[in-house]
Amino acid sequence: MATTPTSARPAVPPWRAPDDQTGRIHAAVQAGCGRHADWPAFDARLRRHVATLRNELAWLYGSRDDFEAVVVRLVQTAFEAWCGRPAVLKALDEQRERDPQWFQSQRMLGGVCYVDLFAGDFRGIEAQIPYFQELGLTYLHLMPPYLCPEPHNDGGYAVSSYRATKPALGTIEDLRHLAEKLREAGISLVLDFVFNHTSDEHEWAVAARAGDPVCRDYYHIYPDRQQPDAFERTLREIFPDEHPGAFSQIEDGRWVWTTFHSYQWDLNYSNPEVFRAMAGEMLFIANLGVEFLRMDAVAFVWKRMGTSCESQPEAHHLLRAYNALARIAAPALLFKSEAIVHPDEVVSYISPAECQVSYNPLQMALLWNTLATREVNLLQLALAERHHLPEGTAWVNYVRSHDDIGWTFADEDAARFGIDGFDHRQFLNRFYVDRFPGSFARGVPFQDNPATGDCRISGTCAALCGLEQGDPHAVARILLLHGVVLSSGGIPLIYLGDEIGQGNDAGYADDPARAGDSRWVHRPMRDPRRHAERLDPSTAAGRIHAGLRHLISLRRHLPAFAGGRLLPFWSRHPAVLGYRRPAPQGDDARGGVLVLANFSERPASVLPEVLSAQPATMVDLIGQTAFDLRAGLTLAPYQMVWLVASGA
Ligand code: GLC
Ligand code: GLC
Repeated sequence: MATTPTSARPAVPPWRAPDDQTGRIHAAVQAGCGRHADWPAFDARLRRHVATLRNELAWLYGSRDDFEAVVVRLVQTAFEAWCGRPAVLKALDEQRERDPQWFQSQRMLGGVCYVDLFAGDFRGIEAQIPYFQELGLTYLHLMPPYLCPEPHNDGGYAVSSYRATKPALGTIEDLRHLAEKLREAGISLVLDFVFNHTSDEHEWAVAARAGDPVCRDYYHIYPDRQQPDAFERTLREIFPDEHPGAFSQIEDGRWVWTTFHSYQWDLNYSNPEVFRAMAGEMLFIANLGVEFLRMDAVAFVWKRMGTSCESQPEAHHLLRAYNALARIAAPALLFKSEAIVHPDEVVSYISPAECQVSYNPLQMALLWNTLATREVNLLQLALAERHHLPEGTAWVNYVRSHDDIGWTFADEDAARFGIDGFDHRQFLNRFYVDRFPGSFARGVPFQDNPATGDCRISGTCAALCGLEQGDPHAVARILLLHGVVLSSGGIPLIYLGDEIGQGNDAGYADDPARAGDSRWVHRPMRDPRRHAERLDPSTAAGRIHAGLRHLISLRRHLPAFAGGRLLPFWSRHPAVLGYRRPAPQGDDARGGVLVLANFSERPASVLPEVLSAQPATMVDLIGQTAFDLRAGLTLAPYQMVWLVASGA
């Protein structure tokens, strides 16, 4: 895992534009589109955002002679998309513009699943809407359902077309219908925009392979190894199990940039036609009724010789330009960043002008770190120093995703506790694959790379918490992790199946298309038997499900859990995590919630003097118990409390 940010802005902006260029762009688009009935609403938003759009694009393409024409064509593409945007979504646009903070509500709750593995097809997902509502979901991320190669497609992350779906799931019209049904049920549909690459079966890739010069320039294709070798000197390997380095050879001997798998071809964003074409695809997806776009692999989109080719300044300009287009032609659309990189880089993508929400991979990784070490030090530090986000943005906090767990904490943070980052990652890997004495976890290594010592972890939440081998604390661990995610701000996201404690699926190894990718171990099919057990309190599924539903319903009624404001609370016990969620009106200890969580299998006491600034009597909402804090507070193994002043 790269642990040092490597971005350097070019010293001078690459354009020398006359001041009135924005006006000329606007006038040129108006000349072509101004008489159309859909123009006035578009024009109002265009006027607000065209300068931003132009300025961001100028960083990328401003030195080209045809720059002005490039922007004009792009805005025309956006206008065409606007004309095709359904009236209900235009109404939603206005609603969201009136209430831009809508997603900060403590009622927001996300779920994520694969369409086929969870419910067979789009209709099956529609039939699960009552289940989603029972759980309280307001946000549903369906893993990429788009047309893709078979059998190898990286779980759908190799997209052959955004305008067609995998035939087994249904049609694009079925997807549009599903989006509508979800919206009517108060659930926002979330889909991916895999804009770093396409599959090698995308029509652009097919044409590029056949020698089409226009489509060749959509990708990074080189005649020999000279450039690839030069780039690889400073690149890290993402999927070394599949191919070494970042390039793959095509049949005619040429080399194409493939950061991920050899069938995922990286797009060449130095070509403005790529940006325009992908912007058209983005707005097409938006018009299906998608409300959050998960911006996949944001760090990788811009390449610069001599760098890691991750998180280059241009990656931000690209996202900002996409965002400006969304404000103009699909304003209800928000972006979620997927940047699984150094924490300094993760936050660099989060702003109202770029990605409004983002995965919080640091909190995710540190939750697992804390379970393994029984020491809250790194997580407590992350909450104190790396949790705060700009106004108008939010974390998506999660226990695990469809991907592996990588140890993306900052080495410099670890060093403050005398922890060596490299050694500590080795320990965590051993712990989670059960090569450490006394470990409760049953994970599987992912991309174990002996050359670099790098390795990541696969496994479901239940498997990593010890449920499979009957560890007596497993259920409490599962609830504790979710309890932090539900109470630390932003949008909590549940990997569906974890709410009933589904275990690992070792069967993936029998499927040749999946055998090489251990992430499939934690992508099991929905288990109907376990789902039925969720209502039976004598089962583990029942205890997990009931515990989670209890937390979710408490949270919905706690205004202090809206938004992201959090004040660290140092418990001075090594295994007890603490934070306060202040009341919306201020920092008055009486209105907020004090969260304390014991990450060890031993009781842990917080001393009276640590609690002396709190009200004398507080009530734990989870256990419905009152505590006299003047006597201190002892937490049972893995117990979490959400404390409010009694009578509050
Ligand atoms: C993202 C996805 C991951 C995929 C990769 C390449 O990180 O989460 O599953 O392998 O992008 O698209
Ligand atoms: C993401 C991450 C990368 C990870 C990959 C697949 O793109 O940035 O680190 O390995 O997904 O898990």
